[in-house]
Amino acid sequence: MPLLKMENLKKHYGKGTRTVKALDDVSLSVEKGEFVAIVGTSGSGKSTLLHMLGGLDRATEGKVYVDGNDIFTMSDEKLTIFRRRSVGFVFQSYNLVPILNVLENILLPLELDGGKIDQGYLDQVIRALGLQDKIHSLPSNLSGGQQQRVAIARALATKPSIILADEPTGNLDSKTSQEVLILLKQMSEKFNQTIVMITHNENIAQTADRIIRIEDGRIVSGSSPAPGASPL
Ligand SMILES: Nc1ncnc2c1ncn2[C@@H]1O[C@H](COP(=O)(O)OP(=O)(O)OP(=O)(O)O)[C@@H](O)[C@H]1O
Ligand SMILES: [Mg+2]
Repeated sequence: MPLLKMENLKKHYGKGTRTVKALDDVSLSVEKGEFVAIVGTSGSGKSTLLHMLGGLDRATEGKVYVDGNDIFTMSDEKLTIFRRRSVGFVFQSYNLVPILNVLENILLPLELDGGKIDQGYLDQVIRALGLQDKIHSLPSNLSGGQQQRVAIARALATKPSIILADEPTGNLDSKTSQEVLILLKQMSEKFNQTIVMITHNENIAQTADRIIRIEDGRIVSGSSPAPGASPL
């Protein structure tokens, strides 16, 4: 059973003749440990797709299963808890809390959830992302690439079922983008972490295990793992 499954999903905005079919009957599956890129032009439905996978918004029709959970049958309260525990988000704009230092930012989702801290795992993540010398720094004293690495560490901290990243390198220069990309790929391999990442950039997409292409709210290729592909 795939870790992530979307079935005949539709997301329409507005009503009547002005309806925008942001997602128009989308089905896809992702195996545990896969690193998948979603590629498409502006307005094709990429962010909408990611929001559906992460339970940030509800579908008009269709289903999303994460780790066997049918997420849209959950109450709003349950869906909030699901997001906090099972989904790590990484955004283009990093979204760090400016008054908290690096370590406090990384620990924030764990503390919100009252979860136990796995110190050994956390140290591994911090080291893997090269942040060990920065844990007491404030975000404003870090470069963009460093801030994004903190956001990735924060997303990994709760050991989520999936990490969803919307243009994670959108604000970075090409060299830093490559570095962040390589780190994301390493995290997916090292921690068998499932990652779904949106990008406009074809070179960046090529780093992923698989590319899902979306046009006008429909998937045109890459909706399921290649036959025989065995993600680690
Ligand atoms: N809240 C909303 N209300 C109405 N229409 C929306 C809303 N969110 C998205 N849309 C529309 O749905 C379509 C898909 O938008 P989406 O944000 O998913 O595109 P995208 O592929 O992420 O684009 P970009 O690359 O520019 O971020 C667009 O036509 C957009 O205008
Ligand atoms: Mg978008």
